[in-house]
Amino acid sequence: MSGDPNLKWVKVATLDELWEGDFLDAKVDGEEVLLLHRRGGRIVCFQGMCPHQEILLADGAIDFEKGTITCSAHEWEFDMEDGRGRNPLGCKLFQYQVKLEGEFIMVGVPTDGRLRRLRHSVEEDA
Ligand code: FES
Repeated sequence: MSGDPNLKWVKVATLDELWEGDFLDAKVDGEEVLLLHRRGGRIVCFQGMCPHQEILLADGAIDFEKGTITCSAHEWEFDMEDGRGRNPLGCKLFQYQVKLEGEFIMVGVPTDGRLRRLRHSVEEDA
């Protein structure tokens, strides 16, 4: 995974900045991302803007118990396991690969130059 030539790994935060049960938004390579440190220690990263009308998802409701990210604008709800839309179905947040290097949380940015935030439909799953 770390040797994937199609990814550029970017340091986004340290473990000290993202405790378990917490989230943060950041800009990575020009695009907003949302990092979540899930219960049990797994860290996931999604596009930070809602695919509906590009509202910052970090301003919405992040519910670690339910495992959902809900946009503040029109309440589209996404599963924090894989970014799939729970309501409505048929949409999906782009999910970045994440790895740790010591204390650093690294996010894998695809190097193909396409905007990540526009890859939100399930059909485009790749
Ligand atoms: S902008 Fe997010 S639900 Fe409409």
